Amino acid sequence: MTNEKNFYITTPIYYVNDAPHIGHAYTTLACDTMARYKRLMGYDVKFATGTDEHGQKVEKAAAAAGMDPKDFVDKVSQTFRHLAVEMQITNDDFIRTTEPRHIKAAQQLWVELINRGEIYLGSYAGWYSVRDEAFYAESELIDGKAPTGAPVEWVEEPSYFFKLSAWGDKLLEFYEKHPDFIQPESRRNEVISFVKSGLRDLSISRASFKWGVPVPNDPDHVMYVWLDALTNYLTVLGYPDTNSDDFKKFWPESVHVVGKDILRFHTVYWPAFLMAAGLTPPKKIFAHGWWTNEGVKISKSLGNTIDPIELINTFGVDAVRYFLLREVSFGQDGDFSLSGLINRYNSDLANSYGNLVQRVLSFIYKQCDGKVPQPAEYTAEDKDLLIEADALPEILEQNMENFSFHKHAEHIWQVIFKANQYVDMQKPWVLKATDPKRMQTILYILAETIRKIAILTQPILPIASEKILDQLAMTKRGLDVFNQALQPGTPLPEPKGVFPRWVEKA
Ligand code: MSP
Repeated sequence: MTNEKNFYITTPIYYVNDAPHIGHAYTTLACDTMARYKRLMGYDVKFATGTDEHGQKVEKAAAAAGMDPKDFVDKVSQTFRHLAVEMQITNDDFIRTTEPRHIKAAQQLWVELINRGEIYLGSYAGWYSVRDEAFYAESELIDGKAPTGAPVEWVEEPSYFFKLSAWGDKLLEFYEKHPDFIQPESRRNEVISFVKSGLRDLSISRASFKWGVPVPNDPDHVMYVWLDALTNYLTVLGYPDTNSDDFKKFWPESVHVVGKDILRFHTVYWPAFLMAAGLTPPKKIFAHGWWTNEGVKISKSLGNTIDPIELINTFGVDAVRYFLLREVSFGQDGDFSLSGLINRYNSDLANSYGNLVQRVLSFIYKQCDGKVPQPAEYTAEDKDLLIEADALPEILEQNMENFSFHKHAEHIWQVIFKANQYVDMQKPWVLKATDPKRMQTILYILAETIRKIAILTQPILPIASEKILDQLAMTKRGLDVFNQALQPGTPLPEPKGVFPRWVEKA
């Protein structure tokens, strides 16, 4: 039962080998923005994030911390949960792969695959990178390292294999039939050429350590961490119960947002596992780019990771959201810099949006008795501004459906710019004595423009938009009320600044 008004969006589940950084925050913020947008559009949304807690990488991190793996993952997982709370993320679920519901789901997927003859027992002799949790062919290595630069080690052990080699043509057919499955387009081409170059069977179990989901009926093996981890997207919907309400509602209406580094796992292995288990692959995989810090690759060893909580505590959630979503086109790489964030904040939020709202609402509060003004006849300029604002929902839809957050913001800011120009040109403050009716009309047009803008900025700037809509005494905030104009005479609360200008402390 699929319904076009159901929408399921997921972040990758984060490895708990280390504390969260800006890269993790970015994916989660983007998904949160999308989830908020879909809710605004009246969709029933399921939004999940969580932690990936098995595998050698996590096991080694626990050992390095001198902790039992379970205690270690319990502790680090909390830091990711905490980040989501601090960022005011609206996830409906937080999945951990060590939870019984997930172990059951992962084992069931295994059983399904083995029952369908998709898995065989063999032995693996080859390269493995713990950092990437990935197997590499000799031919893929560059100077004795993984193509990602990660160290590799030689692994020789009995292993179960998934018959990935048999799925190449079916995958290509699937990509062909679903041209939107892999986004952006450039990534799609990359995946297609990888699959065309021929797929090898995939090792899907490890026998040399224990920190993983036990392979059903073979206690010597644990499941390969990626097969385990990918299944989380099903666990959240109640799998193995494919008759659960959530499963019927949200699968395969699903979008997995991932970083470009984990594209292959999501666009090749995952649909192949699903098709082999008789399940439909998800609707879309969107791969975003990577952030550098002041031009330098972010890495723990360089000590230049950016703590998202520190940023939020300094600048506020909305400022961080706005910068990350506005600065680069989603899908491209971006460079993080404090000066960039401060510039964006001051120019777009404090000086443009904040200034518009503050000067209009405080003027209304003082000059219109703290009530929504009473408009009279509209001039051509009035109508022009309203027409611009009215065009935004359609543009919003076009952009957001493609994850073009930056374009969505760009269009809104064009209207904000126009509205500020309109204030300067109409000069409502000089009309108080001479033409109060006209003053009220101008202010009404502005209040309406701000209301419309604030409805549309909710996905990107949830906290500020809420404050602005509060200041307009709006209780309903969905797109369905976009055309319900403000009622003249409605009492308004005293306005407070939403984006105070950021001044560097000396
Ligand atoms: N556990 C796997 C995902 C399993 S999903 C079934 C994993 N975890 S991760 O913690 O290493 O990375 C999670 C996400 O963070 C990835 O999508 C990755 O692209 C993203 N980022 C990590 N560093 C990043 C940047 N510097 N910039 C942007 N995103 C980055 O992979």
